[in-house]
Amino acid sequence: MGATFDAAKARERFPALKQDQVFLDNAGGSQTLGDVIDSITQYLLKTNVQLGATYSTAQQSTNKYGDGYQAAAKYINAGRDEIVIGSSTTQLFTNLSSALKFQEGDEIVLSKMEHETNINPWLKLAERLKLTIKWWVSEKPELKLTPENLKPLLSDKVKFVACTHVSNVLGGIHDIKSIAETVHSVGALLCVDGVSFAPHRQIDVKALGVDFYAFSWYKVYGPHMAMLYASNAAQEHVKPLGHFFNPTETLEEKLALAGSNYENVQTIPQITSYLESVGFDAIAAHEERLQTVLLDFLNSRDDITVWGPTSTDSTVRVPTISFTVKGVNSRKFVEDAEKISNYGFRWGHVYSKRLCDEVLGLEPEAVVRVSMVHYNTEEEIKGLIEVLKKVLP
Ligand SMILES: Cc1ncc(COP(=O)(O)O)c(C=O)c1O
Repeated sequence: MGATFDAAKARERFPALKQDQVFLDNAGGSQTLGDVIDSITQYLLKTNVQLGATYSTAQQSTNKYGDGYQAAAKYINAGRDEIVIGSSTTQLFTNLSSALKFQEGDEIVLSKMEHETNINPWLKLAERLKLTIKWWVSEKPELKLTPENLKPLLSDKVKFVACTHVSNVLGGIHDIKSIAETVHSVGALLCVDGVSFAPHRQIDVKALGVDFYAFSWYKVYGPHMAMLYASNAAQEHVKPLGHFFNPTETLEEKLALAGSNYENVQTIPQITSYLESVGFDAIAAHEERLQTVLLDFLNSRDDITVWGPTSTDSTVRVPTISFTVKGVNSRKFVEDAEKISNYGFRWGHVYSKRLCDEVLGLEPEAVVRVSMVHYNTEEEIKGLIEVLKKVLP
């Protein structure tokens, strides 16, 4: 498809998009590629056996699983020994938190601009190991994590920092490379939640300079699984969780416990080859057109507050757009839209509860969130605006 993105052609690759439903809750989970669905069916029909045996079907299944791991590592520019695939980012961060080694009294810095997935495991870890927690917040209207607002929290006591690449509410892209440099200047490790970034842009963990990075393949057009990267150097701080007689060299051996889901892992080459054929430049350009249509409308209304960047620039944000309407409950707003349309989008804190309650200071029903990906069309977004106009006061 190249730089000139053909949305109709992309949509053909997703069987679910033929339904009478407009999918605008993609930050919750994307639709699955047809090739992925077929490949799971074929795997289960023909090669669903225990890996590692010497008979021919077992060799095939072992190779397919290995190819999945290999494609996943290459996709983010990691080594095969630096990734582990699990059921969710929440599960992988929780496994990691059980395995990290720190000393009593060490400090960790946690951002409050997060999905709870990148907070709760580290709070439990801090409680268990008696670590001190420092909160990292960027107040309104900036709402952006930067090296400048991180620096006052850092000292040589800080051993670990956790933050998001893109908030699943705000949509702004953080400069992770600069943040990683700042974290490393005091010798600490950086753990990044890449879940809301991954469906929209290429990830290169080496260029970012992160120590730990995770995202969920089920939001990147695949089945329900997620992946964690830990650099070989960072793995020095990771204590293996597996049985005592198992090998402990790779991150998979350290953290996967009984292995990753075979039928899902072996679909990864289908996902990465699709994304390569479309190209992330084309995806970013198309997404910029989509977010421009919606943001131009939202920004033009005095009664609407967009939370996160109001800029339409694809270098500033991804098309995950949250807003509130003055005097209108977010839940009621979305439910009213559902009554008159086939548009599917969200209300609530979407698991970033600390951000919505404590930083944005919103009501429990929090925001209205419209989250687009490259298979959405400008027509869909123009249609959404017509629906919004009908339910706005
Ligand atoms: C930013 C962000 N982080 C983490 C998660 C949790 O991912 P998982 O469901 O794979 O645990 C989500 C899911 O919505 C998310 O949006």
